[in-house]
Amino acid sequence: MKSKTVFCCSECGYETAKFLGKCPSCGEWNTLKEQKVFKDEKKISLSRETSVRPMTLSEIKTDMSERLTMDITELDRVLGGGLVKGSLVLVGGEPGIGKSTLLMQVCRNVASKGKILYVSGEESEMQLKMRAERLSVTGDDLLILPETDIDKALSFVDETKCDVCIIDSVQTMFSESVDSSGGSVGQIRDVTMKIMRKAKESGCAFFIVGHVTKDGNIAGPRMLEHMVDAVLYFEGDRNQSYRILRGVKNRFGSTNEVGVFEMTGEGLICVDNPSAALLSGRPLDASGSSVTCLMEGTRPILAEIQALTSPTGFGMPRRAAEGVDFSRVVMLIAIIEKKLGLTMQNQDAYLNVVGGLKVDETAADLAIISAIISSLKNKSIDPATVFLGEVGLSGEVRSVPGISRRVSEAERLGFKTCVVPEGSIQGLRDVGIKLIGARTVMDILKEDIWG
Ligand code: TYD
Ligand code: MG
Repeated sequence: MKSKTVFCCSECGYETAKFLGKCPSCGEWNTLKEQKVFKDEKKISLSRETSVRPMTLSEIKTDMSERLTMDITELDRVLGGGLVKGSLVLVGGEPGIGKSTLLMQVCRNVASKGKILYVSGEESEMQLKMRAERLSVTGDDLLILPETDIDKALSFVDETKCDVCIIDSVQTMFSESVDSSGGSVGQIRDVTMKIMRKAKESGCAFFIVGHVTKDGNIAGPRMLEHMVDAVLYFEGDRNQSYRILRGVKNRFGSTNEVGVFEMTGEGLICVDNPSAALLSGRPLDASGSSVTCLMEGTRPILAEIQALTSPTGFGMPRRAAEGVDFSRVVMLIAIIEKKLGLTMQNQDAYLNVVGGLKVDETAADLAIISAIISSLKNKSIDPATVFLGEVGLSGEVRSVPGISRRVSEAERLGFKTCVVPEGSIQGLRDVGIKLIGARTVMDILKEDIWG
C-alpha cells in the first residue's frame, strides 16, 4: 500500500507536509506530530449504490422518514423526531456527565424494536452489566462488546446485522492502519472515517461518544464534528442533578432544540416541565433570590438566581459566580455602584444559578442586579415576580429576544408580575400578567415588588 507522511497538529488537526514548531492554524507550539496516512483510506462512498451517477431528485429513494424513535422524549426531540437510518450522531460531554447512562437507556428502549450493539472501549462487560441492571435493561437484542479495535468492532456490525451501534468512546478506539497512539488526531480521524463508511454502506445508525476537553470542545480535531450528521452536547454540573442535551449540529432537524434530564438513582429521567422542577424548593421570602426566564433553544425555562453579599473582612472584596459569566457579574456590580449609588466596595458578592444551569445570555442581567440589591438591602423580592432585560453600561434596560415566549412561560407557572424593558411593553398587549416597564435600572428600585 502506498503511504506518505504528514505532520498533523494534535490540537486542531491542521495538516502540513513539512515540520513546523508552531501550528499556523491554532498557534500552539510543539503540537505537530508526524503521521503515516494511507492514500486509499481517504476514499469514501456516501452512497449505498455501487456506481454513482448524477440523478434527479425524483429518482432518489429516501428512507429518511423511517426514523427510529428512542422513546426518550427529550432525546427524540433533540434528534429531530428520532434516529435516521445510517446516520452518525456524536454525543459529547465531560466525563461523568451521563453519556454512557443515556446510551444504555437508549439500548433499553431500542432493544424491543431492533438489534443494538454496544461497543465499549472504556468499561468491561461486567461493569456494563452492572449498569444495565441498575437501569433495568434486559433482552437478547442487546449485544455487548468490550473492544478497542475499530476494525474488529465494525466487522460485528455486519455479522450481527444490528440496526443501531454505540461506540463508547471514539477516543478509546484504535485503528491499525494509522501508526500513532490511540486517541491521537490521526487515530480519531481514521476511526471516524471507518465508522462513517460502515454507516453509509450498512444502514446501521451509530452513536459515537466523544470526550470533551477543558475548554469545552470535543477532544480531537474539529473535523470530527464536520464528518458526523448530528452533534449533541451533554451539559450540566456533575454535582447537580439536572442535565441539558443540546443539539449543536443536525442534518436531519433543527439545532434549536434542547432536552432536559434529571439524573436519579435509576438513571436519567426526562423533565417535561423544567421551569417547575427548577423552581421547586425556592425560598419565598428570603432575600437575595430572583427569577428570570432563559431561552434554551426555542424553549423558555424559568431559573432562580441567588446572590449573597456580606461585608468584606479584609482587603479586596471577593466576587464569585457559579453558572453566570464572571466578568458579566463584575460589570453588573459596577453598574450597581455607579448608577444606583449603592456601595459594593466593602461587600463580598456571590452569585449562583440554581440547578446547575448555565446562563449564557444577557436577558438575566436585570434578575442578577435585583438579586444582588435584594441581598444588599436584606429585603426580599415579591416571589411572584420575574425579571427580564439586558442592562447596558449606562444603566439602560434593553430588550431581549423572544420576550413574549418568556412572559407566557412566567404566566403559565402562575407568576403575577413581570419586569420588562419599557420598549417591549408595546408588543406585549394581551398578556394576563402585570407588566412593569423599566427604562433604566433605577426603575426597579421604585416599584412595589420589594418586601
Ligand atoms: P456515566 O454515564 O458513566 O458518565 P459518562 O459516560 O458521561 O462519563 O455517568 C456517571 C455518573 O452518573 C456517575 O457519577 C454515577 C451517576 N449515575 C447515577 O446517578 N444514576 C444512575 O442510574 C447511573 C447509571 C449513574
Ligand atoms: Mg462513559
